[in-house]
Amino acid sequence: MLETQQTPSPNLGNYWMPFTANKQFKANPRLLTQAEGMYYTDDKGQPVLDATAGLWCCNAGHGRSEISQAVSQQIAHMDYAPSFQLGHPIAFELANKLAQISPEGLDKVFFTNSGSESVDTALKMALCYHRANGQPSRTRFIGRELGYHGVGFGGISVGGIGNNRKTFSGQLLQGVDHLPHTLDIEKNAFTRGLPKEGIEKAEALEQLITLHGAENIAAVIVEPMSGSAGVILPPEGYLARLREITKKHGILLIFDEVITGFGRLGSAFASNFWQVTPDIITTAKAINNGAIPMGAVFVSNHIHDTCMQGPENMIEFFHGYTYSGHPVAAASALATLNIYQNEQLFERASSLSQYFEDAVHSLKGLPNIIDIRNIGLVAGIQFAPSKEGVGKRGYEIFDRCFRQGTLIRATGDILALSPPLIVEKSQIDDMINSLSDAICSVG
Ligand SMILES: Cc1ncc(COP(=O)(O)O)c(C=O)c1O
Repeated sequence: MLETQQTPSPNLGNYWMPFTANKQFKANPRLLTQAEGMYYTDDKGQPVLDATAGLWCCNAGHGRSEISQAVSQQIAHMDYAPSFQLGHPIAFELANKLAQISPEGLDKVFFTNSGSESVDTALKMALCYHRANGQPSRTRFIGRELGYHGVGFGGISVGGIGNNRKTFSGQLLQGVDHLPHTLDIEKNAFTRGLPKEGIEKAEALEQLITLHGAENIAAVIVEPMSGSAGVILPPEGYLARLREITKKHGILLIFDEVITGFGRLGSAFASNFWQVTPDIITTAKAINNGAIPMGAVFVSNHIHDTCMQGPENMIEFFHGYTYSGHPVAAASALATLNIYQNEQLFERASSLSQYFEDAVHSLKGLPNIIDIRNIGLVAGIQFAPSKEGVGKRGYEIFDRCFRQGTLIRATGDILALSPPLIVEKSQIDDMINSLSDAICSVG
């Protein structure tokens, strides 16, 4: 049972918080102290309905005893084992289990500890592959405007969110270009599902290929659906067109599925959902319900096999992390995958998506909403910026929702909803009511 009593506040001074307005937060903190099912509890003992699956992580809901038991058993059994020139069975078991749900042909799995590390790993794999394949001049990367690929130097270089790049701009990776983003509110506002307009934005890839030469381009990386920049959907046919162009020119296609992986759209991956298979998929977050830091990169058998050429006693890929395939993280992932399978949570997401879509679009017409976008169990609601500046209105609605017991996510003036896949219809209604109250009172 969730606690209802207050938790004493810690001293907030020493923790430099990530992606947080630290001074603003510490003046008026939002502290979460416990979680179970669809709810957090805050430090005042109040329940907070989780409309964001934590940070797009907890697709099976919170406090799953299957996961905590697997974790405590594994820690007691073997807490840690190195994975350089050594192995432990559970990491292999997990890779095999993941290969059962990955898109066909993407059976090889490399473990990381986060989405950012998965992205860096994928970019390095692309370089490794082309070199092993006799095309070492293929070194350039192509990302996309508004893309979010984590915070490593690789990820911010191929990423396209200005604020994440500006401070570091002197030291980003060389040889990176960006496709145009696919958000077009003028043409596609309030579309349910995929926008009709915008497939031609994929043609910018042909222009970049003409500019640089395909023989110099290693990979294109995109989120099939951009989450962090505010739920930006691919126009109809766009991903398939990217696949066509990359294939034609021998360029690898990387889908960053750190958000869309593990059921968010109602299929294991967005790649399954849209039936477009890239060469590499990056994941993290919901792989183990956010229980312990973990990520995984899925790679085509062809890329893997090409990289495996070379003398038997040589390390093929000079890359890896101390915690790659960590036994405790692996145990939590296996338990999570069992929950997804036993409770058919991906199918559940799919069957709830129409209800969710109708509920979210019922907000149309409330003050300052200029767009609502949705797919699967994710939605973005975009507001016109207030006179006080971009992001002020989004933050105020987010904060008000939190104070009244619903956790949503704000990126600038875009709010995102991405509830755990165990959500009930009545809880979707609660989210929408809370949001509607907050929108009307903030104005
Ligand atoms: C698409 C995508 N890629 C990469 C990342 C980075 O993941 P992490 O914060 O685990 O490094 C995120 C995080 O939200 C993401 O949404």
